[in-house]
Amino acid sequence: MRIDIVTIFPTFFDALDISLLGKAKTSGLIELGVHDLRDFTHDRHRTVDDTPYGGGAGMVMKPEPWGEALDGLLAESSDPLVIFPSPAGEVFTQATARALAEEAHLVFGCGRYEGIDQRVFDDTAERARVKLVSMGDYVLNGGEVAVMAMIEAIGRLIPGVVGNPESLVEESHENGLLEYPSYTKPAVWRGREVPPILLSGNHGAIAAWRREQQLERTRRVRPDLLGD
Ligand code: ADE
Repeated sequence: MRIDIVTIFPTFFDALDISLLGKAKTSGLIELGVHDLRDFTHDRHRTVDDTPYGGGAGMVMKPEPWGEALDGLLAESSDPLVIFPSPAGEVFTQATARALAEEAHLVFGCGRYEGIDQRVFDDTAERARVKLVSMGDYVLNGGEVAVMAMIEAIGRLIPGVVGNPESLVEESHENGLLEYPSYTKPAVWRGREVPPILLSGNHGAIAAWRREQQLERTRRVRPDLLGD
């Protein structure tokens, strides 16, 4: 998969060199391009924002640098999907991550300040598929942290990125439930025992216990996932 990111803070994405995603980059499973929006400005101050028409607090990102940055990136593949993180977008879920993991080329545009001039979305949508995606009902200072989270959730679903694909099957949200509690050695720690069923060797009973734990935890913490 190819991933391009346009941002005024390229170093935010240095962390993508770490851990499983770093390995996926090195091995070529993920091809990452991080682009500084200011490289597409032409004034001495490398200006990316201006005051809003109609008045109001804060600054709005100017359309010209965005247009130039996206023109170049959209020309580089046949059917890119452009994602703008925004609290005004559709909420990102595991289902979103699964769908986006099937894409060949994702372009993320990280807004800052009070957002990006609306014409950037409208203009881009004439040439490519565009989605506004929110990380949840809260406000971040900009899209960078949201894009980091999305890339991690999407990247680990790309075949080969996570060493043991079975570990993807039983985790939270994959079957609509929260994951069951996990234990490792020692069998007793600070007087706390591992549930004996997990030491029984009875795989059917263990699977049933885990399922019950998932249901109990989901009912208690996230009844909305069960439609309750
Ligand atoms: N930018 C600011 N807040 C955001 C959010 N909740 N999700 C995605 N992008 C954002």
